[in-house]
Formats: sequence, structure tokens, C-alpha cells
Amino acid sequence: MGPIEIRPGIFWVGVNDRTTDLFEGLWPLPSGVSYNAYLVVGKRVALIDSVKNHYAEELLQKIAQVVDPARLDYLVVNHMEPDHSGALPLLRRVAPNAEVLAAPPALPMLADFYGLREGVRAVQDGETLDLGGKTLSFYHIPFVHWPETMATYEATERVLFPCDAFGGFRALEGALFADEVDFALYEDEVLRYFSNIVGMQSQAVLRAIEKLKGLPIEVIAPSHGLVWRREPQRIVELYARWARHEGEPGVALVFGSMYGETRKMAEAVAQGVREAGLPVRVLDASRTHVSFLIQEAWRFQGLLLGSPTYDTDVFPPVEHLLRLLERKRLRNRVVGIFGSYGWRGGATAKLAEKVRALGWELVGTVEFGGAPTPEELRQGRELGRTVAARVKTAAVQEGFRA
Ligand SMILES: Cc1cc2nc3c(=O)[nH]c(=O)nc-3n(C[C@H](O)[C@H](O)[C@H](O)COP(=O)(O)O)c2cc1C
Ligand SMILES: [Fe+2]
Ligand SMILES: [Fe+2]
Repeated sequence: MGPIEIRPGIFWVGVNDRTTDLFEGLWPLPSGVSYNAYLVVGKRVALIDSVKNHYAEELLQKIAQVVDPARLDYLVVNHMEPDHSGALPLLRRVAPNAEVLAAPPALPMLADFYGLREGVRAVQDGETLDLGGKTLSFYHIPFVHWPETMATYEATERVLFPCDAFGGFRALEGALFADEVDFALYEDEVLRYFSNIVGMQSQAVLRAIEKLKGLPIEVIAPSHGLVWRREPQRIVELYARWARHEGEPGVALVFGSMYGETRKMAEAVAQGVREAGLPVRVLDASRTHVSFLIQEAWRFQGLLLGSPTYDTDVFPPVEHLLRLLERKRLRNRVVGIFGSYGWRGGATAKLAEKVRALGWELVGTVEFGGAPTPEELRQGRELGRTVAARVKTAAVQEGFRA
């Protein structure tokens, strides 16, 4: 995709990354990711964000199709994470006179990451910059995603560049605008991005939404994924709902199993959820990357956890999920737990402890020795129905709208 003029004088000059296997060295990218950078062309020219260093040349080629890169007056650094700042060393060589603009906490980081000390200026919260025919203003939105993060707003065309907020995984597939694609195909990867990358900063996301809501925004142009020029409110509402930790009425069932006993119980529990009329997604924690488990735990209000006892404790892949959800501070879940043991058990007690420590509502437990008996399987179905019923009442209380 070449440069795309998203509004008169404002160009997307980003790149698709289809070769990085793991975002941040952790999160698989089966459908890739884009790093979106934007040119705002007035009498003076600003580049908003850049790309990961491997793609710096490609960025430069795209800029060159719009303006001579040597002519850049400003490099706006909304966020220092290297997926957006990695091209700065090359840009500094090509456009030595371009001034780097960033929030105050970014200044020591520009020095630490890239040795950039000269030609760098901190912009204050709400500060405005006249480009001649285009006007930028800068709003500090700390911790969406790092402490130095800010959003940039262009007033004449009413475009918001919120960097990591409102973005998603998945490379652009020939189309930049959300209204050009079937967004349902992208939503899973937006949720996986939200829950894994910025979910931990949910409070900061809500503060940013509150802070920016007075701006007349017509286009939202994030740093990953689709650009919203029609109904930008849609992506804001999705992000706000996820950041409030409001799950959809449904259940994520995550289990681990060595010899299939806990797995048999998982099937029965899932059936119970269905019988009570809610969707349930069944995920094997050993065979599904934890980022997808986090995604589904974030999506649904209900969470069913199955774990055999392993070395007197929770099965490691299930424990890993819980550890990450604890770090990401996911709240507000209705939970049921189950698992098989060989002699003395212990996994479900440990799970219950963790669930309580997370402040989640534990509505039932089924623990059994060895293979589940028909009676125990019946109890499992009942557990599924109980969790589903509780999720339904919670959804009604919250007035959930899908
Ligand atoms: C490596 C390993 C460690 C285990 N540790 C315990 C344990 O500490 N306490 C216990 O009661 N059972 C323990 N067991 C037995 C399992 O919990 C039991 O086989 C259970 O039925 C496995 O369920 P699954 O088929 O869903 O994996 C262990 C099994 C294995 C293979
Ligand atoms: Fe980031
Ligand atoms: Fe990013």
C-alpha cells in the first residue's frame, strides 16, 4: 500500500509487518500487524510517529512519494516504544533539521534509546503548533501505553492520532479504513491486542477517553490497524467497554489436562453452559497460546477453569494464564472451577484462593479423583449452568448491550 491521503494534506505512510513472529517478543502475530505513521502537510510538515527500525527504509520511501524527507520540520513522537520510534535514527540523518517533539517524560528516553539530545523539545499538555494551514495540539495520555505517551490532534481536519489507543493486531489487507472492510473479521485481533498490550492500563485508557471526549473528532488514526473515518465512536465504545472490564454474556472455558480426565469434565461443563443458553468457547491451555486465552477471558463475563492437580498445585499452563490475568488486573468475572486429581488433590483449592485474591466471584467447584463418574459429570453440567445463570443476571444488572 502506497501513501494514502486520509484527509486533505494528511497522509498515511505506515507499513505492514508480516514477518515479526512475536510482538514484544511475546505475542504471536499470525495475521501480522501494521505500524501506522502519518504526514501532516501544511506550510511546514510534521511526521506523526514512525515504524519499527527494520521498516525505516520503507517508511522513508513512502514519505518521499509525498514530500522530500529532508523537508520534514517536525517528528512527533507520541510514544517511545520502538515499534513507533525505531525509525528515528534514520529520520534524524535524513532530516537533521527536523525538531523532535514529545511529552516531557520522553526526553530522557530519547537520549537513552537513540542518543538523541539535540533538536528535541518537550511539548506541554494542550500545547498547540501552527504548521501553516494545519494545526496540531498535543495531549498527554500517560500509560496508554507507557508514561510518556501522548495523543496528537489536527484541528482543521479534526483527526486524532491516539497512537496505541484504538489500534489492533492484524496487518492491513489492501484497505486502511474500517468502513472498507468487514470489521467482524478484525475484531478478534483488536481485542487480543487490547487485552494483551493495553488491558493492564485500562484505567489510563478510560482517563484518556474522558480527557479527549470534548474534541470534535471526525477521524481516529491509531498507530496499529484500521483508521476510523465513519463512526469513530464505534472503536471508542469498544475500547471503553473492554477497559471497564465489562464482559459479554458468555463463558470462556479454559482447561488443562494430561490424561484426559479434566478434559472429559470440561466437555460436560461446556454442555451445561449451552443448556443455559449462553455461548461458550472451550480452550485447551496447553495447546493455545496464552494471548488467545487472555483475549477470551477478557471477552466474556464468565470464566470456567479446569486444572488437574500437578505437583500439589495448579497445572502450569492454567496457572500461567491466571498469573497474567492478575498482572493485567482483569476484574469482574464470574468463575467456576473443576479438576481431576490422583491421590490428594489440591489444584481446585489453589485455584479458589487465586480467584478470591483477584476479587472474582466464585460460584462453584467440582473436584474429583481420577476419571469423572456419571454423577460427577452431572455436577459438572450443573456447574456450567450455574455459571451461565449468574452471568445472565450480572449482564442484566449492568444493562449490557452487545
Ligand atoms: C507430573 C504429575 C504430577 C502429579 N501431581 C499430583 C499431586 O500432587 N497430587 C495429586 O493428587 N495428583 C497428582 N497427579 C495425578 C493427576 O492429578 C491425576 O492423574 C489426574 O487424574 C490427571 O487429570 P488429567 O487426566 O485431566 O490430566 C500428578 C500427575 C502427574 C503426571
Ligand atoms: Fe506501545
Ligand atoms: Fe504500538
